[in-house]
Amino acid sequence: MHSIFVARGSANAIPIWFVTADTYPDVRKRLGAEACAFADAAGFEPKAARYLLLPGEKRLGGVLFGLEGAGDPADPFLAGRLAPLLPDGAYRFANEPHDARLAALSFALGLYRFTRYRKADERKIDLELPQSLDRDDLERIVEGVTLARDLINTPANDLGPVQLEEAARALAARHNAKIDAIVGDDLLARNFPLIHAVGRAAAQAPRLIDMTWGEAGHPRITLVGKGVCFDTGGLDIKPESAMLNMKKDMGGAATALALAHMIMGRGLKARLRVLIPAVENAIAGGSFRPRDIYTSRKGITVEIGNTDAEGRLVLADALALADEDKPELIADFATLTGAARVALGPDVPPFFTDDDALAAELTRCAAAENDPLWRLPLWRPYEAMLESKVADTNNVGGGQAGAITAALFMRRFVTVKSWLHVDLFAWTPVAKPGRPEGGECQSARALYALLEARYG
Ligand code: BES
Ligand code: MN
Ligand code: ZN
Repeated sequence: MHSIFVARGSANAIPIWFVTADTYPDVRKRLGAEACAFADAAGFEPKAARYLLLPGEKRLGGVLFGLEGAGDPADPFLAGRLAPLLPDGAYRFANEPHDARLAALSFALGLYRFTRYRKADERKIDLELPQSLDRDDLERIVEGVTLARDLINTPANDLGPVQLEEAARALAARHNAKIDAIVGDDLLARNFPLIHAVGRAAAQAPRLIDMTWGEAGHPRITLVGKGVCFDTGGLDIKPESAMLNMKKDMGGAATALALAHMIMGRGLKARLRVLIPAVENAIAGGSFRPRDIYTSRKGITVEIGNTDAEGRLVLADALALADEDKPELIADFATLTGAARVALGPDVPPFFTDDDALAAELTRCAAAENDPLWRLPLWRPYEAMLESKVADTNNVGGGQAGAITAALFMRRFVTVKSWLHVDLFAWTPVAKPGRPEGGECQSARALYALLEARYG
């Protein structure tokens, strides 16, 4: 996708007028009589998401776009609905929408198309940014989100553990980060038994990708992303409807890479580490089985209650490694449970942490960035649901509180207090403003805002 943000300057950019019932009369005065007559003849009304292309001399004279008025819940991404409706060309905001930064962001995010397999969908739209906005920062955010969406949308035949590692290597090269991967049987030699068990049956060998960037003296933050490139469920095979979208089960890894891009591009004063267990949960003679028992990296023995609860297994070993050098913050991202969707739906990922200050900060950033997140509790009494009769823990709880028991399972592998776990859907099932249908990068913008405030 080409960069849509251009520096201010060309007088030719087509003005976009944001209007509400309250502001429309004033805008009309500035538009002039001819444009008003045209708008009236076209039946334009200043209601949310209504739009009109105004004629100019042999070109577009401007665009009217309706925003929510006072009293309506304002969607700061509503401008994202306009972008795909516009003809190719250069545009500028003629007046201020509710929030110019989020409007510009949604404009760019709303233009995203997955064009890897169908070039016909490509668009060429430029947006001149108001002077007050940080062009490079917005660009970086859009690049990060675009990277994540492209990775999530790419099907598993073109994005297995091998290609996920390649994508991480390409990002590392771009930012001069160090990167390494532990592959196949080396996972056993280097003590990552759970990552190996989950990924060993697949045609592409399982691996742990380990990227580091930044000055050694800076505060350490470690991102961990679930990189299950396809989740069949394993021997506890998923029914077809549940398996259909499981190319997106590396959405956590994509999110971690997107956030890493934002952090490194911005040059935050942090020592960053990104850990991605990349596997395919496949079915073959070598698959791990229900009731198998594995000793994890941390030494905790895990009985497999369900091979479809594979994400928490690969994350357990990755989190144990992340915990070893005691970073200031460990954040993991994972398409971990269907239960999170039952609780909060596709658009509001739950997050878990024992750090109340971090939770409050993240909640604030999520709202400010229009990147919704909602805290769920690490409810200690539910630990009992994870009990095994023969091992230290089972990998599944009972039929209830599935997102919480998954988080509690992973908590057993971390000791740092500032551990954050985000249970993502990584997908927009029905297009919304700024959010085209398909792969979605959730929580990275909120966390970037939080980290920017801390380490910028
Ligand atoms: N990747 C799935 C979770 C998932 C499913 C996320 C659909 C988003 C949409 C995960 O590996 C899984 O299968 N979880 C099981 C756990 C269960 C077996 C305890 C689930 O949620 O059903
Ligand atoms: Mn699964
Ligand atoms: Zn999964």
